[in-house]
Amino acid sequence: MLQEATVQLDSFKGLFRRFLQEGAQTIQWDKIKPPAANMARSIVLPYASLDKPNDHDIKGLLDQLVVIKLNGGLGTTMGCVGPKSVIDVRDDMTFLDMTVRQIEYLNNRYHTNVPLILMNSFNTHEETDHVIQKYHGSTVTILTFNQSKFPRISKDTLLPVAKNYLDHEAWYPPGHGDIYESLVAAPFFESLLLQGRQYAFISNVDNLGATVDTSILNYLINQAPKCEFLMEVTDKTRADIKGGTLIDYEGKTRLLEIAQVPKQHIDDFKSVTKFRIFNTNNLWIKMSAIKKVVTNKELELEIIVNHKNMESGVNVIQLETAVGSAMKHFENAIGINVPRSRFLPVKNTSDLFLVKSNLYHQEKGTLVMNPKRLFEVPLVKLGDEFRVVSKFLARFATIPDILELDHLTVTGDVTFGRHVSLKGTVIMCHHGDRIDIPVGAVLENKIVSGNLRI
Ligand code: UTP
Repeated sequence: MLQEATVQLDSFKGLFRRFLQEGAQTIQWDKIKPPAANMARSIVLPYASLDKPNDHDIKGLLDQLVVIKLNGGLGTTMGCVGPKSVIDVRDDMTFLDMTVRQIEYLNNRYHTNVPLILMNSFNTHEETDHVIQKYHGSTVTILTFNQSKFPRISKDTLLPVAKNYLDHEAWYPPGHGDIYESLVAAPFFESLLLQGRQYAFISNVDNLGATVDTSILNYLINQAPKCEFLMEVTDKTRADIKGGTLIDYEGKTRLLEIAQVPKQHIDDFKSVTKFRIFNTNNLWIKMSAIKKVVTNKELELEIIVNHKNMESGVNVIQLETAVGSAMKHFENAIGINVPRSRFLPVKNTSDLFLVKSNLYHQEKGTLVMNPKRLFEVPLVKLGDEFRVVSKFLARFATIPDILELDHLTVTGDVTFGRHVSLKGTVIMCHHGDRIDIPVGAVLENKIVSGNLRI
């Protein structure tokens, strides 16, 4: 415990010292090159170029893997208290249930024992540890470790605002970039290495598309054994313009986040033609390389300065880092351009609406796109009345049929009866009495503003 606290204090001091010396870092724009387009030199390979491993080789691959989910975040955006991973997403299963189900399936099918590791924060560990007790009978070994707890700093004085360790609001989890040091400090880390667990597949717990992909693992183990870090990227759409992208910078592949871009180049950064891909935060990293960069104290991750207001009115800053920004510290790092289906995050109830709908069905903890859906996922924007999960659920007797939907916007006091179908573009901007969409209604290409009577 004392050792853990000392490590955290050292890490915080290191980050704070760099912040004082360098501030929030921007990048020299003229040194940036987009990833090379020609395949031979490319730092981003197409997923389609990977071989599928033979069924009988898969056990040998999985024996070398650990799956790590970033589980430090809360469900506050969707009005939930507690870890985001315990929100029900589909078929009475939470994010965690789905992840455990997926790995259980792999372990049973390939007679292996891929462990699931959860990185918790001080905000999530108690409830997570309680919830995972229900998986005791499963074939998945679940290990947990805590990320660091850093002190928030007063914006004016640059001094910590914490009076003691228990004053929750005065502390914060410093972003997922903290995983490297916290993982290496975990009591089970060395034994995983000794067991031959050579690769960690790390992803956001709220990305339902982040399943174990044996083609990528096979590529790393059999075709690119010198690659220490692989980032899954996918094609940018206009909805993803803020996501980090990959660049060639002074001969090294690295991640460029919006926070590092000089103000005058923000529009260039957002362009979907200049920077065509973005980071899904699905990462495959060599465990021995994680140990190396931490033990040699090589990590200097870009500092994200996050400004917050405390309840007391004090303005504070918290210094954070992102897991993907460590890419520059690893040898032979590459990106793989994966299908969009590997990026299915649930950040708000509009995303939840999609993953609960008949666009998908659930198979062994994995969401599979309905083959009857012939084109891309619809654009859904639900208004503030739907923001909190419990209110969102209360507004739908059943989730409508959206197989033929292109675009849905709903603002105002609207409820949906059972078996409603939405097709084409449906926009409801309603600001009068409550509208109840009746049972079985079919709304096709309907744009309604003001009062609607059906
Ligand atoms: P974020 O809150 O960073 O998601 O959490 P985001 O807003 O979509 O931003 P990015 O672009 O993905 O970073 C992403 C994942 O990281 C975990 C969350 O639980 C979530 O699974 N996380 C975040 C941590 O584990 N610790 C942290 O300090 C922050």
